[in-house]
Amino acid sequence: MASFPHLFSPIQLGGLELPNRVVHVPTDISSSHADGEVSERDIHHHADIARGGAGFIIVGATTPDMKTGRPTVTCLVADGDNYIPGLARLAESMHRYGAKCAVQLQHPGRQCAIPRYNTLGATDRVLKLRGRPGTRSSTRTPRRRARRSGRPPSPRSSSSSTSSVRRHGA
Ligand SMILES: Cc1cc2nc3c(=O)[nH]c(=O)nc-3n(C[C@H](O)[C@H](O)[C@H](O)COP(=O)(O)O)c2cc1C
Repeated sequence: MASFPHLFSPIQLGGLELPNRVVHVPTDISSSHADGEVSERDIHHHADIARGGAGFIIVGATTPDMKTGRPTVTCLVADGDNYIPGLARLAESMHRYGAKCAVQLQHPGRQCAIPRYNTLGATDRVLKLRGRPGTRSSTRTPRRRARRSGRPPSPRSSSSSTSSVRRHGA
């Protein structure tokens, strides 16, 4: 590793001394139990990353409030003391191989997978735009206008699709 002389040397990160500069970015592997508890799969996955030599591992999206926002249906949860033993086991599985670790707390707001509130993150914006099919303003589309005026509607052209995409903000 002559080109990266510092990669495998320790570095101080605040109060933590990392054994090297190889960092595993947060990746939610969606493997925890339905209630957000750490699973054996979580343990093995993160232990393997540590065993592979990463010096600092950030555990992926973990919700700080399961009731109002879970980014994926089987992400980890850390919103109560009952989760501490599982998370401690998870940390230990990485410490065993010399890695340091952190957890990414992530509340996804209206983009959450659970609860769904009957809205879709990006899509609900589109559904609220004027001109969507089934709303009054959509009667002003070129095809409807043509039909109302008695003229035969022209075949759909790519430009009408394009303008439709533009109208819906896609
Ligand atoms: C399966 C998977 C899960 C991910 N989970 C998270 C996550 O929980 N939190 C996050 O901030 N980014 C997450 N990401 C994004 C990654 O952390 C990273 O930013 C992305 O893979 C781009 O990295 P790269 O530029 O090194 O390829 C995830 C990516 C993948 C592929």
